[in-house]
Amino acid sequence: MATLATESISGDAVDPLDMSRPELYRDDVWQAPFRELREKAPVYYTEHSSFGPYWSVSSYKPIVQVESLPDLYSSEAGGITIADLKEGDIKMPMFIAMDRPKHTGQRRTVAPAFTPSEMVRMNENIRTRSAEILDSLPVGQEFDWVDTVSIELTTQMLAILFDFPWEERRLLTYWSDWAGDIEIAKDPVRKEERRTILFECAAYFGNLWQGKIGKEPTPDLISMMIHSDAMAHMDQMEFLGNLILLIVGGNDTTRNSMSAYAWGLEQFPDERAKLEANPGLIPNAVQEIIRWQTPLAHMRRTATQDSELEGQQIRAGDKLALWYLSANRDESVFPNADKIIVDRENARRHLAFGHGIHRCVGARLAELQIGILLEEMAKRRLRVNVLREPERVAACFVHGYKKMPVELSRY
Ligand code: HEM
Repeated sequence: MATLATESISGDAVDPLDMSRPELYRDDVWQAPFRELREKAPVYYTEHSSFGPYWSVSSYKPIVQVESLPDLYSSEAGGITIADLKEGDIKMPMFIAMDRPKHTGQRRTVAPAFTPSEMVRMNENIRTRSAEILDSLPVGQEFDWVDTVSIELTTQMLAILFDFPWEERRLLTYWSDWAGDIEIAKDPVRKEERRTILFECAAYFGNLWQGKIGKEPTPDLISMMIHSDAMAHMDQMEFLGNLILLIVGGNDTTRNSMSAYAWGLEQFPDERAKLEANPGLIPNAVQEIIRWQTPLAHMRRTATQDSELEGQQIRAGDKLALWYLSANRDESVFPNADKIIVDRENARRHLAFGHGIHRCVGARLAELQIGILLEEMAKRRLRVNVLREPERVAACFVHGYKKMPVELSRY
């Protein structure tokens, strides 16, 4: 079993390479321990953590290997985050946490909402809305990029996708923030609060759903799900679980990529200048920013049988954290990986969307929205200047920003 320096403080073993500790992400100090893991033990066992024992898979190749064997490394057996489901937790089945064959049918139902032709259809609406936000921003005055731009644009994108009541769209953000926070699992009071809020969300979507039953199909996700075979046979909990998956899946991720655009290019002004001089680089820069940020730091798998991975013996029932955040900094695949290089040749190879049968179904929509933001900024020759260090999310799942003070200038 691979173990590196393990210290003992007051009787409890504290593993300095336990990458589930939220402060590593809050303080932005995860880079060095992941580098150590990739170099010395790309498949590494942490015996004691606040989420129990787990394997850290931290380099590119073994993550691809695990994701290529979905029957051996299950998404369903233990869920998709390092936090275990406990007695009394709400169980909302969602296809991200299902194995074949059930996963296949349910994924197929929502996939048509994300085809290239759907993206063409949504393009104009998303562009118009994004342009309105950018035109309303103050130039030369401080504001919070996260709330004013990243959250607002992401919420609008999701409201368009769901045909959600426009004026109430911030509810999507609110629900998603509660649903996606895995640190809550450690706090019984907040856990109860979360349960209530998610049931409110379920009830709201239940009403929207009822309103569309028996009506002509419309080109939004809810209608698409209602009129599909695979979803027609779902119970209500499953239907709602999948809706919540789509909200949460699209929310923090797209939001934090847009914030990473501002913060990341602030770190690398030479690359920002390159992009400003050549907007043709935008599609590649979008991939590179997603790689650099990796908005979901990990996904979890659970071994269904004994197996061997990079020389380590994995036992049936073991939990594996696939650290995309680390794989995307793997120097053997991405030279100078800590740097944003807007014209990096293989930026598209990043693992931020995962790999294999669960690879992000909404990737095209996220790319469209982030690309539109960069294009509309370029058209207006607008530059984001980050004024102070951003405030980060303290969690090992969602990797992102809470607040980012910025000022816009023109170039
Ligand atoms: C799955 C990342 C945007 C919906 C995933 C997975 C990752 C991911 C890592 C799991 C892959 C795996 O287990 O192998 C991201 C990132 C995004 C993004 C980084 C933005 C930059 C979106 C959007 C939506 C979405 C916009 C929809 C509105 C989903 C769904 C799944 C998923 C439904 C489950 C797919 C399945 O299990 O087959 N995403 N996502 N995501 N994502 Fe995304």
